Amino acid sequence: MNRSFISVIAGGFGIAAPASKGDTDQGEHREITAEATAEMLANASSVVITPGYGMAVAQAQYPVAELAHQLREKGVNVRFGIHPVAGRLPGHMNVLLAEAKVPYDIVMEMDEINDDLGDTSVVLVIGANDTVNPAAAEDPGSPIAGMPVLRVWEAENVVVFKRSMAAGYAGVQNPLFYRDNSQMLFGDAKQRVEDILKAF
Ligand code: TAP
Repeated sequence: MNRSFISVIAGGFGIAAPASKGDTDQGEHREITAEATAEMLANASSVVITPGYGMAVAQAQYPVAELAHQLREKGVNVRFGIHPVAGRLPGHMNVLLAEAKVPYDIVMEMDEINDDLGDTSVVLVIGANDTVNPAAAEDPGSPIAGMPVLRVWEAENVVVFKRSMAAGYAGVQNPLFYRDNSQMLFGDAKQRVEDILKAF
């Protein structure tokens, strides 16, 4: 485990780093509606949901669990990918998903799911940011260089649920949001997931 990762876990990471790090010329982001996301999901063969702190803020775990249930009923292979420091407490996401009765056998740790992300039709990033930042893996100059992350950008399509283009806890911009295979679904995560359920 390298130093960056330890400092991220310790929570001190990024505080002294300029919030603008990585802000330079990221290009354009694309947006998607809840209805278009519902259509994408209905046509998917595999879906991985990577939740983060924003899922806790929005209390979105109940509609997220319902979304996973409905997709599985449609025959979609649905799994969750949990980063070791997603959220603000150890095991934060696991507790929320258990509370919403997501079956344990579809909740995978980062190391269990990472190699499958390249074969995934759609990744739903629900209120996660630092834990899915490709700069950690690809930009040696990034303040989070070397931090293990969920390689969600390898999936065919990525939909990012958050309210704005703001940085996450570490204060580092996220190039994922500008990738050709990524689209932003803006708004409160609970509301947006409920909108998707209505659109099915
Ligand atoms: P973060 O990087 O903190 O990002 C969470 C994202 O959620 C934010 O970018 C925010 O974007 C979005 N969000 C907030 N409220 C939302 C809402 N109501 N609806 C939709 N989106 C919402 O999350 P992460 O990926 O879970 O990473 C965790 C971070 O916390 C890491 O840097 C980690 O090191 C640190 N940390 C973790 C722990 C433990 S033990 N887990 C302890 C201390 C620190 P908007 O504002 O644009 O919505």
